[in-house]
Amino acid sequence: MATLAQPLAPQLPLEILDLSKAQDWLEYRNILERFRILRAAGPVHYCPESGVGPYWSVVTHHHVMEVEGRPDVFSSRWDVGGITIFDRKPEVDEPPLPMFIAMDRPEHTEKRRTVAPAFTPAEMLRHEPLVRRRTAELLDSLPLGEPFDWVDRVSIELTTGMLAILFDFPWEDRRLLTFWSDTATDVEAFENPERDKERWAVLYEMAAYFMRLWNERKDAEPRPDLISMLAHAPATRHMSPQEFMGNLVLLIVGGNDTTRNTMSGAVMAQNLWPDDWNRMMADPALIENGVSELIRWQTPLAHMRRTALVDTELAGQRIRAGDKVVMWYLSANRDEAVFLEADRFLPERPNARRHLSFGFGIHRCVGARLAELQVRVLLEEMQRRRLRVTLADEPVRVYSPFVHGFRKMPVVVDRA
Ligand code: HEM
Repeated sequence: MATLAQPLAPQLPLEILDLSKAQDWLEYRNILERFRILRAAGPVHYCPESGVGPYWSVVTHHHVMEVEGRPDVFSSRWDVGGITIFDRKPEVDEPPLPMFIAMDRPEHTEKRRTVAPAFTPAEMLRHEPLVRRRTAELLDSLPLGEPFDWVDRVSIELTTGMLAILFDFPWEDRRLLTFWSDTATDVEAFENPERDKERWAVLYEMAAYFMRLWNERKDAEPRPDLISMLAHAPATRHMSPQEFMGNLVLLIVGGNDTTRNTMSGAVMAQNLWPDDWNRMMADPALIENGVSELIRWQTPLAHMRRTALVDTELAGQRIRAGDKVVMWYLSANRDEAVFLEADRFLPERPNARRHLSFGFGIHRCVGARLAELQVRVLLEEMQRRRLRVTLADEPVRVYSPFVHGFRKMPVVVDRA
């Protein structure tokens, strides 16, 4: 077989190729346009230099699935590179943060098994009445005709509250979960060594807080909350303090920063595609599919990263052992070869469930059912109240090439 010395796809300018700059993600339309150019030019592209070093970008649906489907070649391991486009910074003594999303088989398998029982269909049925009651109460408390921030008042409140329930976390302190999640993913802090130190100090405080809960629960009877599950399961009972912290960050970020952005995305869809949205609101039978479509269209995590463990080939490109490979879910979900009129929010889209927002394969999001439940209940309760949410100002986006969503969303609510 011929060896490929050069990348096959045409070399595009860095302004198109380099998607790692957080600043660029504030200009969302521009990012979507760049992904369109990249997809048209080929499925896999090499970015030879950037603030995070060289890396490959995988931009089509088919090839993102291929990378996800070869986990023994494309590794998630934290100690070879981890799961985001950013690398650890050992030069500033950044401690490792092992979490099971950033492990390969077989270690990953047994740790994932520990938390999976918290997300079964039976558990979802158990949670639904409480999720519905909290959502209904919150929507009923919103001011009509007065501007407020949807992100803070609705998206954060609902997802943070859900996480507090899953952890059986002290209710009055639940906003700490939001604070810790935002701190863990704060790209501005990551870029600035002083702020990064403060970031780590906050994460250690988080670990100390959880350690208290852990110690209480490990000596008590097992219960169905996530901390008790981790404290009693043989695969996780003896985690090191670093791994304990890593898995907390995983569950907190997983449960907070993602679903939150889909809930804010619901407002964007309503404002950008009002006819499509209103059709869904007029026909509750469309809501279930509409939830998948919303998660596709909004795509809360823009990417996951892998590192090649051996020399290999992907879409005709030669990838070398150690290369960083970034799978852009946002681009795969807008791939016109799979999703017609991909930029549009279309509640009856026949293949909405093929979206890759939850990833694919052995790491596919363990919390997917919970996310779908929360978003479905929100849409159903909005539908019942005929709630119309109108943007009152430009939303502020998250400064990050990883978490893809909204920091602020000024809205006015009324009833149609
Ligand atoms: C719309 C909401 C959500 C999205 C878009 C999302 C997205 C993702 C993605 C992309 C992955 C990695 C998949 C891969 O590498 O193939 C993942 C894994 C994970 N997610 Fe989610 N997630 C969401 C909600 C949640 C919730 C609510 C929780 C828990 C409370 C959660 C917990 C996790 C965990 C623990 C993993 C690691 C799974 C593993 O490595 O086996 N996620 N999620």
